[in-house]
Amino acid sequence: MVELSRVLGVEQFLDNLHSSLRGGWHVLCRSNELTLQPVAFSLLNASYVAYRSPSGKCIVARDQCPHRRARLSLGSCDHEGTLQCPYHGWRFNQDGNGIEIPSLQDGSSIPPRARLDLPSAIEERFGMVFVALEDPIAPLPAVMEDDDPSFMRGDLPVLTTRGLAGLLADNFLDVAHFPFVHSATFGAETEVAVPNFEVERDALTFTARHQHWFSNREDPGVALGIRPLLQQRALTYRYTAPFHLTLTIDFLDAGGTNVISFFLTPENATTVRIYSSLWRNDLEGSADRMREAIDFELAVIEEDLLIQSSYEELVLPLDLTSEVHTKADRTTIELRRVLADFVNRYLPPSTVRISES
Ligand code: FES
Ligand SMILES: [Fe+2]
Repeated sequence: MVELSRVLGVEQFLDNLHSSLRGGWHVLCRSNELTLQPVAFSLLNASYVAYRSPSGKCIVARDQCPHRRARLSLGSCDHEGTLQCPYHGWRFNQDGNGIEIPSLQDGSSIPPRARLDLPSAIEERFGMVFVALEDPIAPLPAVMEDDDPSFMRGDLPVLTTRGLAGLLADNFLDVAHFPFVHSATFGAETEVAVPNFEVERDALTFTARHQHWFSNREDPGVALGIRPLLQQRALTYRYTAPFHLTLTIDFLDAGGTNVISFFLTPENATTVRIYSSLWRNDLEGSADRMREAIDFELAVIEEDLLIQSSYEELVLPLDLTSEVHTKADRTTIELRRVLADFVNRYLPPSTVRISES
């Protein structure tokens, strides 16, 4: 048996709303955004209602009542964690089943289709709520340092930008733009050529490693004359399809490890939310230094977004013949390969199948 789309040809482009993205994990919101009061969040061109029940459970559902499609995010949650629609007062339990229809006479049964439309999977990790609308075809991203008590975590404010999740992922993996886009923050003007780096693929994830020179303007040892401004650092990129990236930076001269996460949520065809956090083991627990680090990262992202938000066409080519690639684009070529596999591994529930024989 083969999927019909494979017979007709493999997808050439990925946009923010490709149907395969329903089989990916996406960050819906930060954990601390959830309270008893239902709130709406956009994902893949649809609105989802989310709230936290009194028992601490995170509930997510399509923000449409099955009765007359009123927005459930305008409703309320009671002390048992049931969600009440604001329009005709139907109530739904934490499993999404309708349990009360006030307008029905006593004894009338509740229709089985009086059910919330729930995502296939929900997980909370690193202070974020991840959802997969259909059975996930790629794993959740991992951040090993999150379990290490020597690291402190700082969350950037959630950023919303015009853009394409695939292109923002591409930009996060790209190192050739550092001297041009980031000269005001960390780009070392002398380091233009991209050094060789190794890419290790594992199913719908990969890891890429290399070392480079950079201007360490954050190192107090530079001001004290202990170390030169130009220093070496090792970069380890970890990518998990479709749009989860982490960068681990080991400072080989100044010491310490920084981890930056970049989880991209496609809201609609032209808008993406960026969830970024930092893990640092070199700040001696200082909240002020973490705030400075967050401000620095925000300045870096702002430099990137000047270009990323201005693309005329918001599509990522998956066919490697559509763009010009060089050896320096090793990681971003791998991104396209993994995403092409992700897209073609996805089997929509209603896919027409035909026999190979
Ligand atoms: S629309 Fe929700 S109860 Fe009628
Ligand atoms: Fe950048």
